[in-house]
Amino acid sequence: MFGIIAGHLFTTTFATLGATAGGDSTAAKTESLTEREARMKWWREARFGMFVHWGLYSGLSGNWNGKIVGTNGGMEWLQNRVGTDTYTYASNALPLFRPKPGFATEWARLAKEAGCRYVVFTTKHHDGFALHDSKVSDYDAGSTLHRDLVKEIVDALHTEGLRVGFYHSMIDWHHDQYDYTRAKGLPYPGGNKSVMSGPRDQSKYNDYLHAEVNELMSNYGPVDVVWWDYSSKEFQGDDAWRASDLIKLVRAKQPNVVMNNRLFRTAEAGWVGNDMATLPKLDPQYGDFTTPEQHIPATGMPGIDWETCMTMNSTWGFNEHDHAWKSDATFIRNLVDIASKGGNYLLNIGPKGDGSVPEESVKSLRAIGAWMKVNGESIYGTTANPFGKLDWGSCTKRLTDTGGKLYFHITIPPLDGKLVVTGLKNRISGARLLGGGKVEVASSGQSTTLVLPTGIPIATNSVVAVNFEGMLDITKSGT
Ligand code: GLC
Repeated sequence: MFGIIAGHLFTTTFATLGATAGGDSTAAKTESLTEREARMKWWREARFGMFVHWGLYSGLSGNWNGKIVGTNGGMEWLQNRVGTDTYTYASNALPLFRPKPGFATEWARLAKEAGCRYVVFTTKHHDGFALHDSKVSDYDAGSTLHRDLVKEIVDALHTEGLRVGFYHSMIDWHHDQYDYTRAKGLPYPGGNKSVMSGPRDQSKYNDYLHAEVNELMSNYGPVDVVWWDYSSKEFQGDDAWRASDLIKLVRAKQPNVVMNNRLFRTAEAGWVGNDMATLPKLDPQYGDFTTPEQHIPATGMPGIDWETCMTMNSTWGFNEHDHAWKSDATFIRNLVDIASKGGNYLLNIGPKGDGSVPEESVKSLRAIGAWMKVNGESIYGTTANPFGKLDWGSCTKRLTDTGGKLYFHITIPPLDGKLVVTGLKNRISGARLLGGGKVEVASSGQSTTLVLPTGIPIATNSVVAVNFEGMLDITKSGT
């Protein structure tokens, strides 16, 4: 049997309330499997979230000194791509980063309309600029814009009933103690070396990093997700970031938080090397979920929680020269593919310097939302495909004590209007096309034929919901 959440046989040790920013004076508590399942429940059911990359790079829009930096790839890396120091970068970027009033409400409404259940946004990216009003940094929105952008965003998300996630960069191209000389495998803009010479002390950077995270965990109400980014094989975990203390600090302040695995870069934490490959394993002491980036694992990752993050064109941060927009159908198919493999989809927007969302993203997110309005029940709270490969599409399922539902997702509409499913042994008590239309069911032996309604267009990504009785019983030999 696969597709049912299995294998969470571990317990996680974390701190109880009362921890200090330094992570000391914490009483360790072991989380039971039941507690862990309860903590992960909303996240597993959500299936669809919005990622937001937004910071100083956004206003530069892929340009530097009047030249195009590139037409593809991560433009949130602009400082590194042009190889400039933090002062030159900031003096060019700051005047162009001018968030308009109410930008966060636009994001929150768009996320809601798209059917996202949570939004993870960059509180600080690799350039080191913090979006909150920080007491431990003056390279932040508080000092430069006299605004607390994190508060504005969190408030807007809460108004729309969305869960809140903070993406936070470990890498820091601004802080004068971030020790890039030790951080092998983690890129660093060449120009900085000449601007801020002298020895660096990573423990001082870590004091700052922990204090900054402490502010974020203390001042904005419940934080549902912390999305760390990132480590290399050579520089990771406790040695690089005092990661275990950081986790303790976060869990003490936000006991229900769900965290990714990017404070670490070892096989136990689900990594192969420094590329984007991920292993289908994760010891929960290193994080709650693993993070395949820009790809969907071929067979999912049974037994662990995972979330694929993806861009809508080819960059995370805004680049006006990137026109590689994917189609609405691709986004919907990816969402279905991911849900049918038991994962979450974190789909990125890169707002502009004024906070407005590129119109291509708005259009596509609305199209996803229109599809979710009709078909959302086949995504939210469902689990992975219990069949083998289905030639015409894929499947998600919802199990109850007395039976359940199978949702058949049509990727290639059949020319004769019939979907054939092999191996399903349960009695079927009804079937319908989501959005309307009765589906006739003809069973013979282990072959079930679903006859789609005529007169209704059966489009790519149409969904047939099938009610079955009893414990799901499938013969695995064929499809
Ligand atoms: C990478 C990139 C980063 C992006 C992230 C999203 O690690 O460094 O720019 O924020 O992936 O997954």
